[in-house]
Amino acid sequence: MTTEPTPAPAPWWRTAVTYQVYLRSFADSNGDGIGDVDGLRGRLPYLADLGVDALWITPWYPSPMADGGYDVVDHRDVDPVLGTLAQADALIAEAHARGIRVVLDLVANHTSDRHPWFTAALAAPPGSPARRRYHFRDGRGPGGEAPPNDWTSAFGGPAWTRVEEPDGTHGQWYLHLFAPQQPDLNWDDPAVREGFDDVVRFWLDRGIDGLRVDAAPALVKAPGLPEFDGGPAFAPATWTDSPHWDVDDVHEVFRRWRKIADGYPGDRMFVAEAVVNGPERLARYLRPGELHTAFNFDYLHAPWQARALRETIDSTLGAMAAVDAPATWVLSNHDETRHVTRFGRPTGARREPADLALGTRRARAAALLMLALPGGAYLYQGEELGLPEVEDLPEHLLQDPTWERSGRTVRGRDGCRVPLPWAGSRPPFGFSPDGARPWLPQPRDWASLAVEHQRHTPGSTLLLYRAALTLRRALPDLHGPDLAWADGAPDVLVFDRGSRFRCVVNLSGEPVPLRGHGTPLLTSCQQTRHELPPDTAAWLTR
Ligand code: GLC
Repeated sequence: MTTEPTPAPAPWWRTAVTYQVYLRSFADSNGDGIGDVDGLRGRLPYLADLGVDALWITPWYPSPMADGGYDVVDHRDVDPVLGTLAQADALIAEAHARGIRVVLDLVANHTSDRHPWFTAALAAPPGSPARRRYHFRDGRGPGGEAPPNDWTSAFGGPAWTRVEEPDGTHGQWYLHLFAPQQPDLNWDDPAVREGFDDVVRFWLDRGIDGLRVDAAPALVKAPGLPEFDGGPAFAPATWTDSPHWDVDDVHEVFRRWRKIADGYPGDRMFVAEAVVNGPERLARYLRPGELHTAFNFDYLHAPWQARALRETIDSTLGAMAAVDAPATWVLSNHDETRHVTRFGRPTGARREPADLALGTRRARAAALLMLALPGGAYLYQGEELGLPEVEDLPEHLLQDPTWERSGRTVRGRDGCRVPLPWAGSRPPFGFSPDGARPWLPQPRDWASLAVEHQRHTPGSTLLLYRAALTLRRALPDLHGPDLAWADGAPDVLVFDRGSRFRCVVNLSGEPVPLRGHGTPLLTSCQQTRHELPPDTAAWLTR
């Protein structure tokens, strides 16, 4: 008799729930008002108890903080404000000891303008190897006073800044798709490719499990940097055939990194931050031999509407299956308005006041929907507490470069980066030691959202997340790649996983009877086991 070989377990990243740590706002161990590596180490028991499989930690590298740490001066160190390399090593080891994987940010499209490569480029003459690492060009017009092309920056204004040459004359221009303090690297230069090979190896050697590829579609630009002609640049619909985004040659970089990661033991992975035009373009980043997974921005941007969600789920599953990549799902991150607030705007319009009770109800249902879908999921710190966007930060405290670059018209992303409330009745709510002032002020009414409060409050959002994550691990039906839609009333999503699991999400304005769907395992609202009120969800066993 022959026995079938036991199939190897699927790599962890195909189904992992990854918790995004925005380090500066997670936990402050030393009282300077800024979250740090030791603060995170101290809270690992919380994360293990919550039941997440992995952490993605936003950039902790030395940075002048022109863009929240995405302006990196040294890719192989930790900013002294946040910790030390030794503390980072300890964090990685301690997370692993608790069964939690660690993913770091790889910021490779640009460096800080204070990176030694860029200061060397500024000191070197036009055409020199040092300038070749970036995109330096002469300006247009007789005195070169107009930028080399019409590209605009993601944060507003032109994507070019003119430098002063070492001899004091007005000189060349350099490209920055983001802030002027973030000059874009030239990935056609072998020195850049080789330099980043070393960065990737540096962290894989230290035992990390994965890297998140920041601004992945931006790395490679069309040869000759042609005009864009597409109007103001940063909108996904205009990114097909754009000379600065999602250019086909960018994939060579990923194939190169994949080869490096495949040389390491264990399941090391890359996750792409790639906002591109639709799931088919996204799937190209995940072809065999390229990156492993990608954030699903189409899902993050989908409105709270049954049809839109179902279409996004179906198009995602189809596109990912075609390249044998797992789907992923995400509701919030450090660049987006928190989803309690987004879902609380009745028509979804950006400036509309949010109904936070409505937004919270929907956010809790959305968590059960997301965590029931096949593939991986990304949680953003604080969503397990139901934190809303902080929309009234005083203007003089705003730090996102968008605020200044937009002529103080767009407030930017600080409102989703406010430090977490851990305990107590007033700021800093245990984020920092008492008496310290967090780098962004917390709303005074966050006491009931704090971890310690929710931990002891039946029905709290924290306990809902914990229950959902525990069940997700325990139910084998949730571990496969399958999803089968079942019939539901209009605006009610009903789907099955495995042989017995069913998820019902009520996006209609009417209550929905649960009879016939099975026995409830978990619901997003406490009140009832017999019917689902509007904007709630249930997990059931059939
Ligand atoms: C990514 C990051 C964002 C940053 C940008 C430039 O989109 O998520 O925070 O501003 O890249 O690095």
